Amino acid sequence: SNAAPGYMYDECKATADWLLSQLSMRPLVGIVCGSGLGGLADSLKNQVVFKYSDIPNFPKSTVHGHAGRLVFGTLKGTSCVCMQGRFHLYEGYPVQKITLPIRVFNLMGVETVILTNAAGGLNQDYRVGDVMIIKDHINMPGFAGINPLAGPNEDRFGVRFPCMSDAYNRKLVRLAHEVGAELGFDEFLREGVYCMLGGPSFETIAECRMLNKLGADAVGMSTVHEVIVARHCGMRVFAMSLISNRSVMDYESEERANHEEVLQTGDDRAKQLEVFVATFVSRLGHA
Ligand code: 6GU
Repeated sequence: SNAAPGYMYDECKATADWLLSQLSMRPLVGIVCGSGLGGLADSLKNQVVFKYSDIPNFPKSTVHGHAGRLVFGTLKGTSCVCMQGRFHLYEGYPVQKITLPIRVFNLMGVETVILTNAAGGLNQDYRVGDVMIIKDHINMPGFAGINPLAGPNEDRFGVRFPCMSDAYNRKLVRLAHEVGAELGFDEFLREGVYCMLGGPSFETIAECRMLNKLGADAVGMSTVHEVIVARHCGMRVFAMSLISNRSVMDYESEERANHEEVLQTGDDRAKQLEVFVATFVSRLGHA
C-alpha cells in the first residue's frame, strides 16, 4: 500500500526513545553509508552498535554489501549516528517504512544528515571512482506517486507541501568543495544531479540516454526518498555519490552493470571518502 500508516509518528518516537534510553550520547549528525561505503561507520570512536534486527520497528536489511547496523559514536569529536546499510524501494517495503530511520534521526536530535551512495555515471565526462557532490535530484518514483510523504501529512514532522528547491544545502556544498580542495581531491570531485529509480533491474540503454537528456549526471536506487523525509522535518542535507560504473549508453558497448563492480569501486575509494566525511563533519559547525 502507498498510504502512510497513521501511527507513523508514534512508531518513530518509540524507536527514538528506545535508542536514547540505551545511550548517554546525543547524535548531532546522521550519516547513511551506501553500498561499499560502510567502512565509515567502523571508523567511529566510542561505538555503541545496534543490529537493525534488534531495533523496534526497523525494517530488515536484505542486500549483500549492506551490513544492517546502526552505529553511534564520535567522528573527530562530533557525535554521530551511522546507518551501515540502508533500505531500498526494491526490497519491497513501502517507501514510508524505509525512511523511518531518517525520522528517528530527527527525533533523536540530529540536525544534519549526510547521505552517500554508489551510482552509475550518466555524464560522459565522469569516470569510475569520481565522487559527485549532489546538488539536486530527479525523483522518478515520485512521478508515479511513490513519495515517502504520500498519505495523511504528519504535521509534527513538517508541512504538507515541503519545498525541494533548497533540498541540498548550498553552504554544505560549498564546504564540501573547500574540504575537497584541501585534501587534494579536486581531480575526482564533481557536482551534479542524481536521479533515483526504483530498481532492482539496472537501466536499459534507452533509459540511460533518456535520463542523461533530462539532465541527470548519475543514477541510482536510493537517497532521494531519504532527502525528502529529512527536508520535510527540517534537517540540513548533504549527499554525495561514488561513481562505481559508467552507464551503458550505446548498443555497441560490451559493458554490463553489475553489483560486484559497484562494491569493488567502493573499496578502492572508501578510505579517501572516510577521510573526506570525517573532515567535512569536523567543519560543520562553521558552515
Ligand atoms: Cl548503473 N544504476 C543504478 N540504478 N544504480 C546503480 C548503478 C547503476 N550503479 C550503482 N548503483
